Amino acid sequence: MANPSECTIKVMCRFRPLNKSEVARGDSYIPKFQGEDCVLITGKPYYFDRVFQSNTTQEQFYNAVAQQIVKDVLDGYNGTIFAYGQTASGKTHTMEGVLHDTDMMGVIPRIVQDIFNYIYSMDENLEFHIKEPRRSTSQPRWNISETRDLPWSRPR
Ligand SMILES: Nc1ncnc2c1ncn2[C@@H]1O[C@H](COP(=O)(O)OP(=O)(O)OP(=O)(O)O)[C@@H](O)[C@H]1O
Ligand SMILES: [Mg+2]
Repeated sequence: MANPSECTIKVMCRFRPLNKSEVARGDSYIPKFQGEDCVLITGKPYYFDRVFQSNTTQEQFYNAVAQQIVKDVLDGYNGTIFAYGQTASGKTHTMEGVLHDTDMMGVIPRIVQDIFNYIYSMDENLEFHIKEPRRSTSQPRWNISETRDLPWSRPR
């Protein structure tokens, strides 16, 4: 069962590096990091549950932010991961990344991978239903339910 202290809403902040055009026009990288939960913007501290510096890999981000939520979902709890930020801040990079690229894929393909690895590791008498309801946002939502199939009720 999930640890209740792990069940609250958490706000994480991920910073992307300067892109080529920002570097070309001479922009400077402003954030300074203090510990794992504080970022200084022009000297003023802002606290989050966790901050991620620009060298954070997709895998590190997934492990820190999403992996536990996926485990809880597979245990029957509801879970939501929501990306918010101004345009070009890195939402798509974080949530989708580069599909089919082991290093660069983002949160969503890693969730799918984890869910299917979990299903493949389960007893063959368990049947999972993954439903994707009609989309109300640009991101998928899944309902996962598990059916315990008694051996004598299985179709032959
Ligand atoms: N953590 C990161 N490391 C390296 N590059 C990044 C990172 N985050 C974003 N980028 C790059 O920054 C650019 C903008 O990112 P992205 O497209 O994800 O922004 P967005 O928030 O989805 O923007 P929009 O709201 O316009 O859809 C992309 O070229 C992306 O590859
Ligand atoms: Mg985007």
